[in-house]
Amino acid sequence: MENELLSRENIPEEILEAFKENMKLSKKLMTYYSCALLEIETKFKVLNQQFSLEQEHNPIETIKTRLKSTESILEKLHRKNLPMDMAAVEENLYDVAGIRVICPFINDIYCLADCLLQQDDVTLIEKKDYIKNPKENGYRSLHLIVETPIFLQDEKRLMKVEVQLRTIAMDFWASLEHRMRYKKNLNPELSEMLSTELKDCAETSARLDIRMGRVKDVIEKNTAEE
Ligand code: GTP
Ligand code: MG
Repeated sequence: MENELLSRENIPEEILEAFKENMKLSKKLMTYYSCALLEIETKFKVLNQQFSLEQEHNPIETIKTRLKSTESILEKLHRKNLPMDMAAVEENLYDVAGIRVICPFINDIYCLADCLLQQDDVTLIEKKDYIKNPKENGYRSLHLIVETPIFLQDEKRLMKVEVQLRTIAMDFWASLEHRMRYKKNLNPELSEMLSTELKDCAETSARLDIRMGRVKDVIEKNTAEE
């Protein structure tokens, strides 16, 4: 019985064709997203080079890129009650292509974001400033959804990319918080205690980011006057 259900002959031709077509589309679309990531990553690398040349300071510590996994895409479509097809993905999910830019200082974040958004082939779709308005749990980062073209053999396609900019300290905090969030077997009391502790860590860490930024500004000001 099981074998019968799985056998190729039992699958109606039109379903098979639709499935194959969707697989092809999804492979194509994921390739487009990875091209868009290459474009945006290059833009940041160029800015980093330029700043290190002119100001002897690298505003970028690390860049990480990722494509959303098929499972996460399906889970999000399901959660948002959207159809399970690639058109729905392109239309509604803005975080299939994600790039995380980690900077030493808060100023670097805003400077890089401004430089990126000034470029005439980058359009801002959405901005969430969780540095000025941190999340209730203490999460801080600057999130941008941008649209940028990729140039293919015979067409130009606009693709959306999620950009997360954060300091090293914000990234350190987010990794730890992420780790706790996915520990399902924590007892509620401990979980509550850890959340309070993490929120406190976020505030301490935010103050440190500000203080370190001030120290850097003072150093720069004084070396410029020499
Ligand atoms: P979803 O995309 O459905 O998650 O909702 P949204 O579009 O409102 O998301 P938001 O822009 O707030 O956050 C998107 C991404 O930022 C997440 O996928 C995480 O990578 C990161 N993020 C947001 N909030 C938190 C948080 O509280 N903790 C950690 N560790 N990461 C977060
Ligand atoms: Mg999102």
